[in-house]
Amino acid sequence: MKPPLKIAIAGLGTVGSGLVQLLDRQAELLAARAGRHIVVGAVSARERRRDRGADISAARWYEDAAAMAADPEIDVVVELIGGADGIALAVVEAALEHKKHVVTANKALMARHGTRLAETAEGAGLALAFEASVAGGIPVIKALREGLSGNRLDRVYGILNGTCNYILTTMRESGREFGEVLAEAQKLGYAEADPSFDIDGVDAAHKLAVLASAAFGRPVDFDGVYVEGIRHVSRLDIDFAEELGYRIKLLGIARLTEEGLEQRVHPCMVQRGKPIAAVEGVFNAVVAEGDFVGQIVLQGRGAGAFPTASAVAADLVDIAAGRIVSTFGVPVGALQPVAGAPMERHHGAYYIRLMVLDQPGVIADIAAALRDQQVSMESMIQRGRAPGEAVPIVLTTHVTVEAAMRRALAAIGGLDTVLEPPRMIRIEDF
Ligand SMILES: NC(=O)c1ccc[n+]([C@@H]2O[C@H](COP(=O)([O-])OP(=O)(O)OC[C@H]3O[C@@H](n4cnc5c(N)ncnc54)[C@H](OP(=O)(O)O)[C@@H]3O)[C@@H](O)[C@H]2O)c1
Repeated sequence: MKPPLKIAIAGLGTVGSGLVQLLDRQAELLAARAGRHIVVGAVSARERRRDRGADISAARWYEDAAAMAADPEIDVVVELIGGADGIALAVVEAALEHKKHVVTANKALMARHGTRLAETAEGAGLALAFEASVAGGIPVIKALREGLSGNRLDRVYGILNGTCNYILTTMRESGREFGEVLAEAQKLGYAEADPSFDIDGVDAAHKLAVLASAAFGRPVDFDGVYVEGIRHVSRLDIDFAEELGYRIKLLGIARLTEEGLEQRVHPCMVQRGKPIAAVEGVFNAVVAEGDFVGQIVLQGRGAGAFPTASAVAADLVDIAAGRIVSTFGVPVGALQPVAGAPMERHHGAYYIRLMVLDQPGVIADIAAALRDQQVSMESMIQRGRAPGEAVPIVLTTHVTVEAAMRRALAAIGGLDTVLEPPRMIRIEDF
């Protein structure tokens, strides 16, 4: 057997301690698959005395994770600290500078610096592996980059944030409002104390930008992702979605269009019978559509200590076995920059919910605002009658261009009889 692969782990939190446990329990299995043992030679975290769930006393302890990345004994640095910049970036840069392979679970870092880091790694003949950064335990990067390399991908989309999916699922099942379900998710540990990265769609946008690069061979373009979170999804919308045959999901969607690369994260109405609509709770899923393979669906746990450690371990086995592939599927010089498709030119159907004063003429005014922008209505639901009071009206449109929809909504929102800002959720045609 070849000499062991010596790794250094920076960060021993949820994922880091999951990884040390996996490497301990699966040591022989991994060695058989990699053709050599994988040994933890060094570790770094903030608090040295904290129990990490496995014996790490044989590993050298570093107070400074960036200094650890320069350790001459180490072959691979595993970055599991988190954050787009700061110490995580310093660790990865130091590792590449000192000719170590890098494995990371850090989507924020990959979304912000992925292309540049991939270029540095490639120039030095090193791996920059990031399977765990998108959809946790689901091997989606490997599936897209290697498993589907015989295909031109038309579209890739998925449920990329388990916290949002848990909240939307629980709102539907329990009939409770967003704020209440979020508070419960925080208590159960499914949402952070500061949940904004998750519920405002930023985390999903980081993952989508990375996923889109691997799928379409483009430089990572996080700033080109259109992002809307789930704060404004109300129980009322979820009930109307059910009535119309849809489920509301926060999706990340990437597609190459004539207008450029479309990357968007926002709540979507998806038909109830579609595979993605059935993915509930904290689960993640990614759907890819290739020209030869058709549609594939990957589903599983998108977070958690062991699922995420599973993805990190797979990257380590690849490196140990000498399987080093281009970070985003093609050499960095072959990544083709492409303009982002502006959201205003997006074509799709829309769900609109309005709270209106129940009085004669309201619907005619709304219909006129839509007509003025050539937006064609597909259906309308008005629930209950309460003359002189607020009632919800829901309408769906045929496919239209987003700019026209926005102009129509601005006009509708300006009507005296429309009491709240209109709510708009895009209907997807999967
Ligand atoms: N949690 C998941 O399910 C999941 C899933 C997919 C991807 N990820 C990604 O994996 C990464 C780690 O996430 P996590 O949930 O494991 O985070 P975490 O539980 O907060 O752990 C972070 C670790 O980094 C250590 N750390 C913080 N500052 C440090 C510093 N300056 N030097 C050395 N170590 C430092 C902490 O030390 P102490 O323990 O001593 O405080 C802790 O061990 C993130 O990029 C995250 O986005 C996480």
